[in-house]
Amino acid sequence: MKSRVIGTGSYAPEKVLTNYDLEKMVETNHDWIVARTGIEERRIAADDEFTSDLATKAAQRALEMAGVAADEIDVIVLATITGDYPWPATACIVQNNIGAKNAYAYDVSAACSGFLYALASADDFLMAGRGKKALVIGAELFSRSCIDWTDRNTCVLFGDGAGAVVLEAQESESGVLSSHLYTDGSYLELLYQPGFGVRHQASQEGIEAKLPFLKMQGNEVFKHAVRMMTEVSKEALKHNGYTSKDVGQFIPHQANIRILEATVKRLKLTEEQSFINVNKYGNTSAATIPIAIDEANRGGKLKEGDLALLTAFGGGFTWGGTLLRW
Ligand code: ACO
Repeated sequence: MKSRVIGTGSYAPEKVLTNYDLEKMVETNHDWIVARTGIEERRIAADDEFTSDLATKAAQRALEMAGVAADEIDVIVLATITGDYPWPATACIVQNNIGAKNAYAYDVSAACSGFLYALASADDFLMAGRGKKALVIGAELFSRSCIDWTDRNTCVLFGDGAGAVVLEAQESESGVLSSHLYTDGSYLELLYQPGFGVRHQASQEGIEAKLPFLKMQGNEVFKHAVRMMTEVSKEALKHNGYTSKDVGQFIPHQANIRILEATVKRLKLTEEQSFINVNKYGNTSAATIPIAIDEANRGGKLKEGDLALLTAFGGGFTWGGTLLRW
């Protein structure tokens, strides 16, 4: 019995923000951004679009591909760090929007690793026999939550978007083979959003100190991301008796082309094996992997029986690797 992906969907807001647009907002330029990050453009949600709207559209597309009605879903797990409200979970809003009246729904907060954490939770739920079908979503709206649009060090990196998969418990050799998840909270301050939670409650002084904005030590994050994603990817392959040569598609968290290239090189994977779309969307945190899975799937890059190796790294620090057979 395995948790098999039977449908994928994604949604990126219509508005495109190019590097040339950013040149008019902060002191930067297209060539610097492309050379350092590989990002050419990113999507920005409309003023009346919220995280739940992006998630709902991605979920509906995944359900449509799967040929599954929303009321057949037993659980919805949504990964986000930029939800509509502090509470309730954005998953509750999506549950209502799509009419998944038989599902219970909750959010997972694991930053850029969120989708892999959510996928592992849903897989555990199905493998425990507590349901047949799960909807797993990654959705983020960074542009109106924690981005300081005057900070060139960070504002060029991120974008908005959502992706989703429908999982079904099947008697099959295909599906999630194993998930390997890690956390090291001692690195919290290298990548986090200081305000406004309970520790720093909303205040005018806090706003002036820019506490609600993402803080990052880019160089440190870079080194850890390459090391952890490489190690956990090797672990996922070894655990299942495979090597890099067996991988059909490597679908890493899309943070930055240099992180991806360094990881691909260390894993001795080829360009053909690696799925990269960071140029089009930037870093959409928990949404990068499900968006990439959907694009790879719809683009015919994931054939039945192929091994897909997923890996992510993000704030916390959190990281993970998942191997699945398509
Ligand atoms: N445009 C032009 N110049 C810039 C920009 C910009 N947008 N941003 C920074 N610079 C300048 C800096 O001010 C600095 O100038 P200085 O030398 O005069 O002080 C210079 O460029 C070099 O800055 P560095 O920070 O050393 O540049 P680096 O090569 O490390 O690249 C980057 C910065 C792209 C952020 C890199 O560290 C990185 O990719 N880190 C990973 C961060 C990441 O991906 N975070 C996402 C969340 S975590 C995750 O998803 C894995």
